[in-house]
Amino acid sequence: MSNLDSAEYVLTTTRSVRKRLDLQRRVDRSLVEDCLDIALQAPNGSNMNTWKWVLVDDPASIRRIAELYELALNDFVVSLGDATGDNYQGAHIPGFERIDASVDYLRQHLAEVPVIVFPLMAGRPEGASVFYQASMWGSVLQAAWSFFLALRTRGLGSAWTTAHLMREAEFADLLGIPPQYTQTGLFPVAYTIGTDFKRAWRAPVSDVASWNQFQS
Ligand SMILES: Cc1cc2nc3c(=O)[nH]c(=O)nc-3n(C[C@H](O)[C@H](O)[C@H](O)COP(=O)(O)O)c2cc1C
Repeated sequence: MSNLDSAEYVLTTTRSVRKRLDLQRRVDRSLVEDCLDIALQAPNGSNMNTWKWVLVDDPASIRRIAELYELALNDFVVSLGDATGDNYQGAHIPGFERIDASVDYLRQHLAEVPVIVFPLMAGRPEGASVFYQASMWGSVLQAAWSFFLALRTRGLGSAWTTAHLMREAEFADLLGIPPQYTQTGLFPVAYTIGTDFKRAWRAPVSDVASWNQFQS
């Protein structure tokens, strides 16, 4: 049994892969579809299967996606105003500089990834009640994360990104996504260079969980 057959190993070592995406190796459509088939076993509201998944492997589309992603990331930085550099609220998280360099690497190389996956949820969050919003997001994000885990078991990886949503309308236009759908992420998919990923830093359970009553 390889490590990748252990649920705990896969759950604790499925990282955001950017610098270790193998940009030289092509990925068969059938492999992506197999991982999605596994992912679609995730729960979803009333089992209505309202999710949609746009799988992109057309090189011209990927190049355009990369251009838009870059513009969207710039928009994000501009939206931060003074909250950049040392003022960025993530700047003091352990490993921040490594993450920052990795985010930048993906920005520079997104045009070279073999496949990009966009999970969509049916409906729009604007003005919806918290109940409807939770039901909508909850009916696609579990499957989205299962997709990452399935990729990991097969030697592939991805990075969860949302920065592109600064330009959601332009992405919808490019991919022909109708206005009643919401994009929930942009996942570059490739084989990983090696499969030996590690646990990451997280705030410990004792800092973030409390029994019976909320504790700040
Ligand atoms: C909701 C969400 C949005 C994210 N957006 C981006 C993004 O736009 N670009 C990016 O490179 N990484 C993005 N990330 C990846 C995080 O930076 C990453 O999960 C975090 O640094 C922890 O690293 P790890 O996933 O390897 O443990 C996002 C992650 C989540 C969950």
